[in-house]
Amino acid sequence: MQESILGVDTVSLDEEKNALVLVDQTLLPGEVKILSLTRREEIFEAIASLRVRGAPAIGVAAAIGIYLAAREIQADTVDAFYAAFMPVKAYFASARPTAVNLFWALDRMERVVLQNRGLSVAEVKGLLHDEAVAIRAEDIAICHRIGENGLSLLRDGCGILTHCNAGQLAAVRYGTALAPIHLGRERGWNFHVFCDETRPLLQGSRLSAFELAADGVDTTVICDSMAAQVMKNGWVDAVLVGADRIAANGDVCNKIGTSGVAILAKHYGIPFYVCAPVSTIDITLPTGEGIPIEQRAGEEITQMWYKAPMAPQEVKTFNPAFDVTDASLVTGIVTEYGVLRPDYGEAIQKLFAW
Ligand code: MRU
Repeated sequence: MQESILGVDTVSLDEEKNALVLVDQTLLPGEVKILSLTRREEIFEAIASLRVRGAPAIGVAAAIGIYLAAREIQADTVDAFYAAFMPVKAYFASARPTAVNLFWALDRMERVVLQNRGLSVAEVKGLLHDEAVAIRAEDIAICHRIGENGLSLLRDGCGILTHCNAGQLAAVRYGTALAPIHLGRERGWNFHVFCDETRPLLQGSRLSAFELAADGVDTTVICDSMAAQVMKNGWVDAVLVGADRIAANGDVCNKIGTSGVAILAKHYGIPFYVCAPVSTIDITLPTGEGIPIEQRAGEEITQMWYKAPMAPQEVKTFNPAFDVTDASLVTGIVTEYGVLRPDYGEAIQKLFAW
């Protein structure tokens, strides 16, 4: 019998084969294929083409990826090693522009090299291994804590709407926005979850619905355009979404369409919660305006999933992968340290002052 997807970590390190092990998310829900990647080009491609996706998961994949690439660097001194390490870091950092966890994880790996210049190259490589393994283990623990904090906002039997996939498939285990649901299930709670299909790459129907169904959750897939009606019907008690980057004022960048869901939630008086680890907060950006938004190929809108093109060839397309939700629309930001409430500028400042 096929093991449930919830029994498979989304990202891991195969210590024997020195390989990054991933669930290929481009093939879900039809096929559960596990990839074992060793070459830096393969790892870059896996991140860029969304075989691994979701902010925490790409951070962990990049940390393991740069460790594996760093193992291959031949250098006599740590200074020479660092000189070779930095172009590899820049290479992985160029895989996707928006989720800050990618840069956060790579920066953590760079700091290991910088802080250990007095050691041998072999010792630094050993420390890079330990850091990548720690980043992965922390992700599991952090997502569990986000799940606990998020669960405190819900009740057994409630209706939830989610957008994109901020579940186990977007992290190593549990996820962020879906973590409260998975933890609730462990306690025997039931939820009715509406998954926006999430055009154009369908992370909601292909991934969130897949992992929620695997957890026995009463799951309903809707087109993105149906969210208003579902809310109007009174079927949604809370919206839970993830984040790719949160600015210092609490503006939230997440999958395209999230901002519209937040506006609808405000209209219908439904709490809109963003679940994210503190590593997703980019304290260097005062507002969401400075967040780089990934622009993707128009074919994702016009051709992907269809047998024939579904738009005339001569028309233009606009395909931003993310949007920014105003902090004023966010009811709470659920982190591993608790639930932040407005004023987010102050709450985030306090969090980082620790
Ligand atoms: O383009 P994707 O699939 O990587 O986008 C993912 C999202 O927008 C998620 O909601 C976000 O990364 C949070 S994941 C815990």
